[in-house]
Amino acid sequence: MNATLSKPSYLPHRPRAVRILETADQASRTKSLSFRDTLAAAATPGQFGMIWAPGKDETPMSLLPAGAYDLVTIVVKHRGEGSRALLRKKRGDLIGIRGPYGKGFTCAGVKNALMIGGGTGAIPLLGLLRALAPRRVTCSFVLGAHTSHELLFQDEIGRLCKETGGNFSITTDDGSAGTKGLATDEAAKVLHARSFDRVYTCGPEAMMRTVVDLSERAQIPAEAGLERIFKCGSGICGSCCIGPYLVCKDGPVFSRETLEELPEFGRSTRDASGRPVIIRSS
Ligand SMILES: Cc1cc2nc3c(=O)[nH]c(=O)nc-3n(C[C@H](O)[C@H](O)[C@H](O)COP(=O)(O)OP(=O)(O)OC[C@H]3O[C@@H](n4cnc5c(N)ncnc54)[C@H](O)[C@@H]3O)c2cc1C
Ligand code: FES
Repeated sequence: MNATLSKPSYLPHRPRAVRILETADQASRTKSLSFRDTLAAAATPGQFGMIWAPGKDETPMSLLPAGAYDLVTIVVKHRGEGSRALLRKKRGDLIGIRGPYGKGFTCAGVKNALMIGGGTGAIPLLGLLRALAPRRVTCSFVLGAHTSHELLFQDEIGRLCKETGGNFSITTDDGSAGTKGLATDEAAKVLHARSFDRVYTCGPEAMMRTVVDLSERAQIPAEAGLERIFKCGSGICGSCCIGPYLVCKDGPVFSRETLEELPEFGRSTRDASGRPVIIRSS
């Protein structure tokens, strides 16, 4: 076959069975699962895979490529049946994957980035940090969680921020680690103290709404990684709609300009039956 031919576009849609090579506890009720998959290993930061726990459910999960040997990690937090089935998987078990899907974060031209990650929102931002740090981007990070037991990747994030000359801060709602309070309050302080040319955020939507508003006031371009209920994950079923967009296909990462057109952003989402649900701030 001619090696210069591009890969067929249907390839990410083909379900693959992958064997779990390693699992590790990462935080309270949160585990990482690592496996090999050539397509997922080419995912860009913010892209996701549809991960199938056989006989249970298929759920969207951010993909963290290791950068070698087609190794990929997903980090799963327990929420319901699908995530619980994945958390029960052990080394040697098989799971399914489709993807990578979606549009991730844009990295071109960034020199000084601020990332604000809340809860599992830290997972795609870690992928972004790993991609930006070797490009000599100064990276700062505000990592927020309810308690110290839910903080994800604080050692790696702290090390990478330090290596790039950036700032790293932690906030927890109960004060069990870092500053007691909201990640958005810390983000406002950091935005005031240093200059940035890009803000990235992922986490609870009320938090992202505040971060996007802060970046608007500071006149800094911003991007946010959204979550909705995904069923097909590939632009067919419409369950993930926000305004005229499909989060699985047009996102999950959206620019501030696009988010500002969407009155639902940070205010309402949809449940599994498509009914609008008000987003609460905590
Ligand atoms: C692009 C994207 C990337 C994601 N990356 C990760 C990740 O790296 N790690 C991780 O732990 N989680 C991630 N999630 C969230 C994860 O997909 C949901 O937690 C999971 O689908 C819940 O399924 P469940 O069967 O465990 O829970 P269910 O029993 O289906 O639902 C439990 C609760 O989670 C809510 N929920 C269900 N499905 C979703 C969904 N697709 N998105 C958000 N909330 C949902 C339900 O409304 C309900 O409140 C991501 C979601 C998206 C959209
Ligand atoms: S999840 Fe089906 S269109 Fe987005």
